[in-house]
Amino acid sequence: MPDTIQITRPDDWHIHVRSGKILKTVVPHSARCFGRIMVMPNLMPPVCVSSRADEYRDEILAASAGSNHFNPLMSLYLTDNTSTEDVLAADKNPNIVGFKLYPAGATTNSDSGVTSVSRIMPVLETIASTGLVLQVHGEVTDPNVDVFDREAEFIDQVLKPLQREIPELRIVFEHITTRQGVEFVRSAGDNVGATITPQHLLFSRNDMFSGGIRPHYYCLPILKRHEHRLALLEAATGGDTSFFLGTDSAPHTKLSKESSCGCAGIYSAHAAIELYTEVFEAMDALDRLEAFASFHGADFYKLPRNTDKITLERIDWEVPKNYQVVGQKEKNPIVPLRAGESMRWRLLTEEH
Ligand code: NCD
Ligand code: ZN
Repeated sequence: MPDTIQITRPDDWHIHVRSGKILKTVVPHSARCFGRIMVMPNLMPPVCVSSRADEYRDEILAASAGSNHFNPLMSLYLTDNTSTEDVLAADKNPNIVGFKLYPAGATTNSDSGVTSVSRIMPVLETIASTGLVLQVHGEVTDPNVDVFDREAEFIDQVLKPLQREIPELRIVFEHITTRQGVEFVRSAGDNVGATITPQHLLFSRNDMFSGGIRPHYYCLPILKRHEHRLALLEAATGGDTSFFLGTDSAPHTKLSKESSCGCAGIYSAHAAIELYTEVFEAMDALDRLEAFASFHGADFYKLPRNTDKITLERIDWEVPKNYQVVGQKEKNPIVPLRAGESMRWRLLTEEH
């Protein structure tokens, strides 16, 4: 077994970096490794228009310490009030590549999301007529639908009819978590792709409850049964070009996670490529890591693949228990995935 592997620089096609002090804390973790990051727009208030995305992108770039390979790409937040003019303005902005559809109330900061896809059909048709991509949080919000079934229901209630109605619409089904999600993407043709997170490849719902309730494993869509995890592993490592890397790294502070009503979101940007590398190694598929991490996403978005390389070294290291939020005095850090535990792979940074 080699002690290092080299792959084309990867991209993270789904990430939350927040704003202000948290942004300053987390952006360097992504910038050390990724070329492009696809920045989700669910700030409070959300990033809905092109000019706001430009300001937000400047804030992210300012926190990236001049990394010359790092390129944040922006997504705009769809609401019931998004206009076709908003879409056309976004299409003219080379740094905006997609619109994010959050069903209203589905997840963190989604209250301004879309209440019904049927209300925004003209906007979706305009997106389809441009080079932009629709990025979908695919869960129904009906409180009567079991939280573990919300993705599968969304496929039948929303995605299949939408694809029938606008087949030319290019859709990324974000952070898929189920066998049904995998099957839908495989059968949907070239206009549908999907991101897969490290947590859904590494863990199942049992991990949320092992020996007690573990809020740092709580994210949305929620971790599912083991059989779904197996379907995701096969999808990510099997070479199918529809599936690509998107961490859904979603930082929340310790106090907002360890609470009687804790936030959904797992922070993984500190060790993102290393976590995926472990997954591919365990599946005896290290030779397919590069395509999943560095090719399939760029190809789906019709953007050039990165040309430079990164190197990963097989070495044990320990993930810090906490990342202190930059410039924050009180003890309310971000608790990362694998906090205090060991990792098998590490990115060799340029200084080494
Ligand atoms: C995300 C967040 O915190 O912004 N949370 C999460 O559990 N994944 C929102 C999202 O992507 O659903
Ligand atoms: Zn997300």
